[in-house]
Amino acid sequence: MSSYTPLRISTVKPNRELTFDLYIYFKETYLKYQDSGSSIETEKYGKLKAQKIAKFYITEEDEPKYQKFLDLLLADTMEDPNVSVDEKVNMVDGACSTAIEKMQEQPESEMAYKMTNTAAKSLRQIVEKNPEALKKIFGKKVDDADLVIKHSLNVSALATKLAVKLNLKSEDIDNIAVAGLIHDVGMTRLNKEDQMLFKKDKDKFTPDDKRIYGLHVKDAMTVLKSKPWVNANVMEIAMNHEETLKGLGPNKKTKLSKSEMIISLVNSYDKTIITTGCTPKEAMKSMMIDQVGNYELDIINKFKEVLISEGLLE
Ligand SMILES: [Fe+2]
Ligand SMILES: [Fe+2]
Repeated sequence: MSSYTPLRISTVKPNRELTFDLYIYFKETYLKYQDSGSSIETEKYGKLKAQKIAKFYITEEDEPKYQKFLDLLLADTMEDPNVSVDEKVNMVDGACSTAIEKMQEQPESEMAYKMTNTAAKSLRQIVEKNPEALKKIFGKKVDDADLVIKHSLNVSALATKLAVKLNLKSEDIDNIAVAGLIHDVGMTRLNKEDQMLFKKDKDKFTPDDKRIYGLHVKDAMTVLKSKPWVNANVMEIAMNHEETLKGLGPNKKTKLSKSEMIISLVNSYDKTIITTGCTPKEAMKSMMIDQVGNYELDIINKFKEVLISEGLLE
């Protein structure tokens, strides 16, 4: 029996020839929905969306074909002036979410890592070129099941923007974008009960909570690190995403590279909003008070400038 990989339907465009079989999951079974070589009609596609069907499935054997399909689709779409920013954001969101989900399920898969790289490139492209993209990404509402994925997208997009603002090298910006997408992949390796810590306010952590939560930065990364296709810089940034200059992270580092500081700061900002339910404005305010000493002041200030210029503090 073959195993199935979920993909977001926003990464499959109607009226475009499919190079793989598409399945849907219905009543505990995978049903063939569309054959390779055919394409989904616009009306049919619209119906799926109206029914709130967010995922298709492909067989594991078809993954390389899907990856190629998606690469081409993104390349065609992102540069197309006739495609709305909304549509582009949806597609990039879908590509990132599909990649992160695959990464969560199979961090050891080369395909998962490749997909994450492609998705991160498109994410960088869209936030760099479209002033309204970041706000659209942040504005998306998701249910609890997708919370870590949504957070990873937020962190990647915002950290990329901050890295651009701080004039980091292009290669570093790319690495930050990928690290942002994968940094919390280890969260889903914790058992269901411990995963709830993701939504718990850090100030309310017991010593046990802190120890268990700290595990998520290494779990998936240890699997990934040994793979020849994995970028060592990306790994460093991802593994140190909870570190601060005061040495409060699980790895107790007190020296951080610029890239590490960017991811950690953006991560902490987005986590504050998730765990306390505060507004972006309040999160930024508490950052200016509580996080001084954890990050260089210049980076905090530049981060605030990014949020203002992106319209995220309104
Ligand atoms: Fe984390
Ligand atoms: Fe995170």
